[in-house]
Amino acid sequence: MSTERQAMVRSWTTNADAWTAVVRDGLIPSRRAGTDAAILAAVRACGPRTVLDVGCGEGWLLRALAADGITVTGTDVSPELVRAAAAAGTPDVHAASYGDLLHAPALARGPFDVVVCNFALLDDDVQTPLAAMRARTAEHGALLVQTVHPWAAHGDGAYRSGWRTETFDSFGRSFAESMPWYYRTMSSWLAEITRANLRLVHIDEPLHPETGRPLSLLLHCTIA
Ligand SMILES: C[S@@+](CC[C@H](N)C(=O)[O-])C[C@H]1O[C@@H](n2cnc3c(N)ncnc32)[C@H](O)[C@@H]1O
Repeated sequence: MSTERQAMVRSWTTNADAWTAVVRDGLIPSRRAGTDAAILAAVRACGPRTVLDVGCGEGWLLRALAADGITVTGTDVSPELVRAAAAAGTPDVHAASYGDLLHAPALARGPFDVVVCNFALLDDDVQTPLAAMRARTAEHGALLVQTVHPWAAHGDGAYRSGWRTETFDSFGRSFAESMPWYYRTMSSWLAEITRANLRLVHIDEPLHPETGRPLSLLLHCTIA
C-alpha cells in the first residue's frame, strides 16, 4: 500500500469524531449548497428498492434513504465511522475496505438496485472500488459516483492528476490529521469508468445556486 493510501485510510479513523460532527452539524458549505441534495435526488430518481452505499462514512445518506422506505446497506473502511453510523440508527452497516468487498463477494452481496459512492473515491486506485461496486449492481441497476469537480478543485496549478492534501481547515472543527487524496482530471475519470467496463449514462454538474460554479461531478453509470 502506498504511503499516501495508508495515511488517507488512517485519517478516517483518527478524524472520525471531527468528521461526524462537521457532517451532522452541516458545516461543509458545498454540501449545504447542493451536493447532499444532488446525490439524494440522483438515487431517488432511480426508484430503488435496495441501495448499497460504499464509503458511507457516518451514514447520513443511508439514514435519509431508509426514511424513504428503501432497504439500505453501507460499508466503510473506518470502524469508528461505522460505529458512529450504527449508533445513529443506520441499518446494516459494515466495516469493510474496497479491497475487502472485492475479495469477499458474500459481503454486502446484493445485487442492489443502486450502488452509490459519495465523495469516497479518494485513492489513486479506483478500479478496486469500481469493480466491487459493479459486482453488486443489479443488471438494470445504477452505479452512482459523486466526486470533487475536476475544474472546481484544480486551483491555479497545472491541470494534472496527482496526490493532494486536504487539511479540513475550512470546516471550523479541529481535525487531528490532514488527508492525502488523489485529484483526477475529467479525462482521467472518464478513462477509469471505461476501464472498469461501466457505461456512462450521463454526467451531472450541480452548480452553486449563487456563484454558478460547479459543486461536484456526478457520474451516473450502468453495468451494461
Ligand atoms: C469524504 S468521506 C465521505 C463519507 C460519506 N460517503 C458521506 O457522504 O459523508 C470519505 C469516506 O471514504 C471512506 N474510505 C476511504 N477509503 C476507503 C476504502 N479504501 N475502503 C472503504 N472506505 C473508504 C472513508 O472512511 C470515509 O468515510
